Amino acid sequence: MKKIQILDTTLRDGEQTPGVALGASEKLEIAQCLAKLKVDAIEAGFPVASAGDFKAVSAVAEKIKGCVISALARASEHDIDIARDALKKAEQARIHTFIATSDIHMQHKLKMTPEEVLQATKKAVCYARNFVEQIEFSAEDASRSDWDFLCRVYETAIAAGATIINVPDTVGYATPEEFGGMIKYLHENISNMDKAIISVHCHNDLGLAVANSLAAIRNGATQIECTINGLGERAGNTALEELVMALRTKQSAYQAECNIDSKQIYRASRLVSTLAGVVVQPNKAVVGDNAFAHESGIHQHGVLNNPLTYEIMSPESIGISRNSIVLGKHSGKHAFEEKLVSLGYELSSEEINKLFIRFKDLADKKKVIFDRDIEALVAEKASFKPEWFRLLYHQVNSSNKARATAVVSLESSSGELEAVSFGDGPIDAVFKAVEKATGLKITLKDFQLKAVTSGMDALGEATIWIEHEGKVFSGRGLSTDVIEASVRGYVSAINGMLSVCGMPDKEE
Ligand code: KIV
Ligand code: ZN
Repeated sequence: MKKIQILDTTLRDGEQTPGVALGASEKLEIAQCLAKLKVDAIEAGFPVASAGDFKAVSAVAEKIKGCVISALARASEHDIDIARDALKKAEQARIHTFIATSDIHMQHKLKMTPEEVLQATKKAVCYARNFVEQIEFSAEDASRSDWDFLCRVYETAIAAGATIINVPDTVGYATPEEFGGMIKYLHENISNMDKAIISVHCHNDLGLAVANSLAAIRNGATQIECTINGLGERAGNTALEELVMALRTKQSAYQAECNIDSKQIYRASRLVSTLAGVVVQPNKAVVGDNAFAHESGIHQHGVLNNPLTYEIMSPESIGISRNSIVLGKHSGKHAFEEKLVSLGYELSSEEINKLFIRFKDLADKKKVIFDRDIEALVAEKASFKPEWFRLLYHQVNSSNKARATAVVSLESSSGELEAVSFGDGPIDAVFKAVEKATGLKITLKDFQLKAVTSGMDALGEATIWIEHEGKVFSGRGLSTDVIEASVRGYVSAINGMLSVCGMPDKEE
C-alpha cells in the first residue's frame, strides 16, 4: 500500500476564495480541526502578504503540534525571511517557495528568461535550506510548461535542497490522462528524483481537480494538496473530503492510503463552511446535505433493507451519526459536555462554560437543540473577537407603512453608548444605529442570513462582511431572532476590524 501525504491548504489557497477573509482566531480554530483530521501538513498562509497573514501563520506554528506547518514564499529572499520568521515556533517547519515556469507566465508576468528562472529557483531553494530541513518547491503553471524545461527546473530545485517538488495545475487546464502522463514523465526523467517526493496541487476550473489528483497518485505522486470543501482561487482546489473518500472507497484500485481520520470530515466541512461563510452546495459529493439523502421510494426501501444497496460509503464513516441525541431546555452541563465530545470537540473548561451560557440562552427560545445548532455555537465562538463593543440591547420597530426605527445600546470601554436611527427596513435601521453609537463609518460589503436547521424556531446565522482600508473583515451572529443575529454579526465584524486596524482617529 502506497502512503499518500495530505497537505491541506485551506488556510492559504482556500482563503484566496473570492469573498473569504479569515481572522487569526478563525484560522487557529480551523488548524486545530485539521490537526484532528490528521492531515500530514497544514499550509498556514503566505506570511509576506499581510501583517494579518503573518500573525495567523505564527499562531498556527506556535499552537499546532503533530503535523508539519508550511508557509508560502515567492522565490525571493525577503519572502523567505518573512516565512522563516512566521514559522519560528513550529515543531516541524516547511518553507514552500515557488516561481512560474510556463512561457506565458515567464514572458508576461515575470518578464524573465528560462535561464533566469532556473537561477532564481536555485538561489531561493539554497537560501531557504539555511533555515529549515523541509523545502517544497512549486513550478507555478507547471501543467502549461514545457516538460523538458520542467525537468531541468525540478532537478535544479532538488540539487539545491528541495525535498518536495510540487506540480501545480494552476489554471485547472489539465485532464486526468494528460496530467497522469506528465507526472509519469517527470517521475521517470528527473535525474535526481530519488532525493525528493512528487506533490500535486490541482485547481478545479474544469471540475477535474480530484480526478487529476487521483491520476497523479497512479503515476507517482505521494503528496496531494487539498482544501476542505474544495475552497480556493476561482473554482477552487482538490476537495480533501472527495479525494480521501475516493482513496478509501477504491483502495484496491489505487493501492494507496492516507492518515486522515475520515470521521472528522463532516465536522471539518461544517466548521470551514461556517467560518469562511461559503455554503456547501446541497448536492456536493461526500459532505453536501443530499449526499446521504434518499428521495425515491425504491431507493428508500433498498436502504432500509440494506444501506449498501444505494450507499457506497456510510454517513458514519465521515462522522455523521444516524441517531443523533438532541438536547433541550432541561439538559444539564454534563449532557452538553458529552455532546461536545461526541461531536469531536476538545474545548477548555472556560470555553465550555461560555458556550453553556449561550446554549442555555438558546434552549430557552428553542424547543429542541440539534447537532447543527451546537456546531453553529462552537463556530460562533471562533469569531469571538477581542471585544471593543458588546451589544447590550436593541429594539426595532418596523412596518410596511412607515420607515423602520432602531435603538441600540452598546457597552464600550468609555461606558454605555446608545443611538437611535431610521432606516430602509429593520436591518438598515439597526446597522445605522450601531454606526451612530460607535461613531464609525462602516462599508457593508455583504450580508448573508441562513437558518441553521429547519422549523419556525430555527437558529438564524448571520454572516456580515465589512470593508475598511481595502481589507475585508467578517463577523458572525447567532440567534433565533434574525435581527439580533444580524446585529451581533455586525458588531463582531466591527470588533474584528478594530482588533486589526485599531480605532480610527475621530475626524475634526
Ligand atoms: O495554484 C498554484 O499554482 C499555487 C502555487 C503557489 C502552488 O497555488
Ligand atoms: Zn493554487
